[in-house]
Amino acid sequence: MTPAMFRFNFAAWNDNMLVGYTPMDEVHKVFFDQICAVLNADDAEVLAAMIVLQAHTRMHFEMEERWMAETGFPARGCHADEHAAVLASVTGVCEQVACGETGAVRSLAEALLEWFPAHADHMDSALAHWMCKLRHGGAPLVLRRGVAGHVAAAGTIH
Ligand SMILES: [Fe+2]
Ligand SMILES: [Fe+2]
Repeated sequence: MTPAMFRFNFAAWNDNMLVGYTPMDEVHKVFFDQICAVLNADDAEVLAAMIVLQAHTRMHFEMEERWMAETGFPARGCHADEHAAVLASVTGVCEQVACGETGAVRSLAEALLEWFPAHADHMDSALAHWMCKLRHGGAPLVLRRGVAGHVAAAGTIH
């Protein structure tokens, strides 16, 4: 694991990953913070950080799957399948850490940071648009800080 003296300051989150549905965006930011906490954890901290990440990942995915079910979202099978695969990986590494094996932690966390932006862009944003359209009759308006500006056709401000 990373010794405390070498801890990284990950600029993990950026507003390109906002989907425009606030409850989902808030959960996603916490998800990123928890991945960074895992990456920065030393040997004494890594099990607790992994347990927190695993529990939050489960809650995050269950929340989105509940929204999909409640609103009749059409393409929920592939979204839920991706969640299940990711949660299985997180749970597997968490169980390894509980047994004292931390060798897979860094690669898992880095893989999550790499995986998430595309998942948010393709699957979560589709769900966010679906829910905003049902509730408000239109696509979400997304205000992104520090990203060069134009207004996209879908009503998203970049
Ligand atoms: Fe998500
Ligand atoms: Fe998702």
